[in-house]
Amino acid sequence: MRIEIPREVERFGPIQIHDVQKVWELDAGLKYSELESKPKDRRVITRIAYESLQEVQEEMAIVVPIKDERIKLLEGVLSGIPHHCTVILVSNSQREPVDRFQIEKDALEHMNKFMKKDLFIVHQKDKAIAKACKDAGYECLLDDKGLVRSGKAEGMILSTILAYLCGKKYIGFIDSDNYFPGAVYEYVQEYSAALYSAKSNYSMVRIAWHSKPKVVESSLFFAKRGRASEHTNKILNSLVSSYTGYGTELIKTGNAGEHAMSMDLALNIDYSSGYSIEPYHYINVLERYGGIIESPSQDVMKKGIEFFQIESRNPHLHEVKGEEHVKSMSREAMEVIYRSPMCPDYLKEEILEDLYARGLLEEGAPMPETIRYYPALTKVDMVKFKKALKNEPYAEYLKADVRKFNYLNGNNGFIRDKVFTKAHLPDEHAKLEVK
Ligand code: GDP
Ligand code: CO
Repeated sequence: MRIEIPREVERFGPIQIHDVQKVWELDAGLKYSELESKPKDRRVITRIAYESLQEVQEEMAIVVPIKDERIKLLEGVLSGIPHHCTVILVSNSQREPVDRFQIEKDALEHMNKFMKKDLFIVHQKDKAIAKACKDAGYECLLDDKGLVRSGKAEGMILSTILAYLCGKKYIGFIDSDNYFPGAVYEYVQEYSAALYSAKSNYSMVRIAWHSKPKVVESSLFFAKRGRASEHTNKILNSLVSSYTGYGTELIKTGNAGEHAMSMDLALNIDYSSGYSIEPYHYINVLERYGGIIESPSQDVMKKGIEFFQIESRNPHLHEVKGEEHVKSMSREAMEVIYRSPMCPDYLKEEILEDLYARGLLEEGAPMPETIRYYPALTKVDMVKFKKALKNEPYAEYLKADVRKFNYLNGNNGFIRDKVFTKAHLPDEHAKLEVK
């Protein structure tokens, strides 16, 4: 893969958010070719050899969340995931009257006769999984019936624990409703390329789609960005600007469902529910490691955190879920920014105005409280979690040496228990008048 180096970078304490990077070649060849030794190339462009991508993929779990999607779509998605990744399907599909989960399982077994991938599937509402959460001290993920809560975010959090237990160093997410296997393949290659070039152990990569095809007046139109994204990105950028004092438009992936992280980062951030989980990655990293309040992990502060944004080449086409779906997604994204202790009052007003103007909230109404927060996974007792799953069919994949897990990591992992006040602002931030 050949990618331009990021042109701009936004710094916020030890956090670096890189500008969107363009992909020039999806495949730039093998490692030991003559090309690799030409240093001139490297100033503005990075060539990442196929073997280097594979190296990352051997240590990567790809999580595919699924809820009542068509099996044909799933089959396409799986065919696009590079072979060396371990695939974890986390399903919240219905079990009655038709047991869609059983259908997924059968289909998967059949497909894997041909693919021979390392893959397994779990149901989010599985009793064994619920017990594991309970034993491991992570009951917050459970509902009043004692089962893991519904929601894509909850499925993602659960599978992050499973990916850790598989001994993986990286975790990436791919939606199961993608129409183009070629796009899926490309996203995983891009995850690998960015994580390969990251300097910090704490890194994340997010995909900015090149385009989203739509039919407009019976011909194809390639829209640049989703409608919800524009609003989320604008407000996220305003939040960053309110501390740095410089306007920015650098964040372009506020709602990126397609993203991957190093496991070290995935274990050290808090999460939020529903579709707010993706913008909350930015917010929580700024909250925890932006230097505004004392951070729960000195190691992360020292090594720094890198965000990469990569513009993919394939158009992004997924299942259309309707207007209401887009609305609730956008509203949740706005709520999670609004609720951040970092969000200045003037930005809160702006968020409300924006929601009123778009008809996502009734004029004059206060921000409803719909989001739930989950503390970082350093709070999970991995030894107990693994033990609770030892008789499950996928136990053979859970081969991490959990004794090494830095349980609680010296803190209980939940930044939201801390109070942010202006007094916490370090000098350079405090000087800024947050109006
Ligand atoms: P969008 O693509 O972000 O507009 O949202 P989707 O509704 O397509 O959801 C993204 C992915 O998450 C899809 O693959 C869904 O099948 C999956 N998904 C949605 N809700 C849940 C859930 O409650 N649990 C799990 N495990 N997956 C879910
Ligand atoms: Co979708």
